[in-house]
Amino acid sequence: MKITIIGTGYVGLTTGTCFAEVGHEVCCVDNNAEKVKMLLDGQIPIYEPGLEELVVKNVNAKRLQFTTSTEEGVKHGEVVFIAVPTPPQADGSVDLSFIEKVAREIAESMTPEMGYRCIVDKSTVPVKTGEKVGETIRRYAPAGVEFGIASNPEFLREGCAVDDLLNPDRIVFGTNDDRAGELMQKVYAPFVAPVLVTDIESAELIKHAANSFLALKISYINAVAKICEKSGGDIEKVAEGIGMDERIGRSFLNAGLGYGGSCFPKDVKAFIAISESLGYPFQLLKEVENINASQMTHFLDKIREKLWVLQDKKIAVWGLAFKQNTDDVRESVAIRLIKQMVEEGAQVTAYDPEAIGTAKTMGELDGVIEFADNMYDCLDDAEALVIATEWPQFANVDIAELKKRMRSHLIFDGRNLLDPETVKAQGVEYYSIGR
Ligand code: UDX
Repeated sequence: MKITIIGTGYVGLTTGTCFAEVGHEVCCVDNNAEKVKMLLDGQIPIYEPGLEELVVKNVNAKRLQFTTSTEEGVKHGEVVFIAVPTPPQADGSVDLSFIEKVAREIAESMTPEMGYRCIVDKSTVPVKTGEKVGETIRRYAPAGVEFGIASNPEFLREGCAVDDLLNPDRIVFGTNDDRAGELMQKVYAPFVAPVLVTDIESAELIKHAANSFLALKISYINAVAKICEKSGGDIEKVAEGIGMDERIGRSFLNAGLGYGGSCFPKDVKAFIAISESLGYPFQLLKEVENINASQMTHFLDKIREKLWVLQDKKIAVWGLAFKQNTDDVRESVAIRLIKQMVEEGAQVTAYDPEAIGTAKTMGELDGVIEFADNMYDCLDDAEALVIATEWPQFANVDIAELKKRMRSHLIFDGRNLLDPETVKAQGVEYYSIGR
């Protein structure tokens, strides 16, 4: 089947590549000519395990092509996915200008001769965006074109996006048009997963409601972690006990510095703004945000309490990415934490297996902190180690080596990666979250 994806950002590129991998003929459109050239040369602008190999493989098999021309893309695909950024605005609402622009470009590229087109919104958008996209296309397209609208939220996680796309736990799409529905069934026919078909509005809401619920789970366990600290309980045991109830489940109950990344903070904010615009003030989600913001400040209080003053203290930080297995530092709690410690005069050396490059290009830390080439060099002479990202290799730290390298043996584990008893038994002072 011929499919077009407009926007080769994180979602567009991984989705397009995986559609090609299951046998579709995919045309990816991006208005950035340099990026298109890079992709045609098999170079991937993001770090995502397994993606580069799949891009090269499918380009060589001629199932995956890249172009800067929307016209060419719309001509190619019976189904045209919109996967462009929907960034947050200052008030938390979503900036839909890219979506609107692409909808207009698609409309202007359509002709009655090319036949029916199913236009699908893949970007995370506020409820009712599908309706607006439909109106825009109707307004700008030549008379006589035939099209339908669908909404198809993605649920991929950075770091395991390829696997999430090839082996999804569910596929959701919404449409009010039978032909669009049939085409969407064909798009997903090669995938083995339950398919939920809804109206457009429900599909749009599912994305924001799902991400907000996951964020709520994280804030809930972080709030319970505070009660554990005050009462002497152990949050890891509490999470295990809660999670054994299959109605709740153990995942996303990891207490820590809170959620970051390009999705949760933005989507929770957007869902609050959407609800407010519809006349419902979503107080529960406001508290989710408050708890999340307090995680870092509470952790910093612990560091300050033990180190007394941060001025001139040499602090090693493991982790810059917003979570493990990614080089993404957007809305990373690790970065916010580092900036605050630097502001208070600390001398920070940081290490991350993948995100040093992206952290440097952000500009805010370059020249302000040191970056180490490996996790042990990072510790040289440090008075404390702060673990800020849940990379699995940090959990396997060689404590003897750590003790050799550090000036004083003190660990603040913001992701509960280490076992307190084991670490303390080796003579290291250790503080974590909720235990
Ligand atoms: C998320 C959703 O999981 C995905 O379905 C959606 O499509 C996009 O948003 P992603 O942003 O890649 O994916 O990251 P995710 O793995 O969900 O983690 C988000 C944040 O929550 C990270 O900062 C992580 O450190 C934090 N987290 C996650 C916790 O603090 N505790 C947990 O138990 C789980």
